[in-house]
Amino acid sequence: MSAASSFGSCGSVLVTGASRGLGLQIVRSLASGDFSPGKIIATARDPDSAQELQTLAENHPNIHIITLDVVSQQSIDAAAKDAERLLQGDGLNCLINNAGINVLGDFQSTTADMMIQNFHTNAVAPLMITKALLPLLRRAASRGGAGGAGRMGVQRAAVVNMSSLLGSVELNWGENANSLKWIPYRTSKSALNMVSRCMAVDLESEGILCMALHPGWVRTDMGGPQAPLSAEESISSILSVIGGLSEKDHGSFLQYTGEPLLW
Ligand SMILES: NC(=O)c1ccc[n+]([C@@H]2O[C@H](COP(=O)([O-])OP(=O)(O)OC[C@H]3O[C@@H](n4cnc5c(N)ncnc54)[C@H](OP(=O)(O)O)[C@@H]3O)[C@@H](O)[C@H]2O)c1
Repeated sequence: MSAASSFGSCGSVLVTGASRGLGLQIVRSLASGDFSPGKIIATARDPDSAQELQTLAENHPNIHIITLDVVSQQSIDAAAKDAERLLQGDGLNCLINNAGINVLGDFQSTTADMMIQNFHTNAVAPLMITKALLPLLRRAASRGGAGGAGRMGVQRAAVVNMSSLLGSVELNWGENANSLKWIPYRTSKSALNMVSRCMAVDLESEGILCMALHPGWVRTDMGGPQAPLSAEESISSILSVIGGLSEKDHGSFLQYTGEPLLW
């Protein structure tokens, strides 16, 4: 049986950027699998225009849509209140910081504004969202997970940051150096990797698992039509990896297949 079945004993999952692409597929796969969590909180910056997500929610009563623009602190604070109200005294078991943008710029064309825009969405926002949701993650972690076993994982409390192989400093060198010279995106994902490690160091004693994950190169608006993986293939594999996370994966940077990646 796939480790994704762990989501069946996970009370709640919150996914950012669920209007389309990988975020939407995470919600779709979680809702329609045999292992659906109790509550799926799908966030979108403009829920009214997220038609596919709305249709999914009409067919799956455990999907709850809330508004979240990840670059607005006011929106983050309001979303944290909405999540608390939806969870009705329970904690949040799994936060997936998925929303992201790719600001295209090479050495010549990149400006300070492009760097800051990409950093804000991809690295600053996941930190601020995790901070705002920390009381809910703590509440879930303090209950010790399934059967009160005290193990780390999605049945207890976990933060998964959707990173990218393009954020790997070690892989962007020598014969491995990639031709994609996207300075704002690459550096924002490197920063997200460090944010993930910092969170992992700070939240370990509370039993909250934190890690960074590369979803593969996937056919979405961001990945483009030539990418080798469909969103279904990527997310099927990712949910199995996330469902199987344990203490050994705390502070890790993993491929969608579960293999470790070089930082
Ligand atoms: N696709 C790939 O090959 C690939 C590879 C490596 C890593 N990733 C990472 O995987 C994640 C998802 O990528 P994707 O391919 O699904 O991208 P996508 O198709 O471009 O979708 C991006 C999602 O992020 C949301 N978003 C962007 N800015 C936001 C904001 N300020 N507030 C709220 N939501 C915001 C978008 O919402 P709107 O609809 O409102 O714009 C959309 O739901 C990203 O972090 C990306 O960097 C993707």
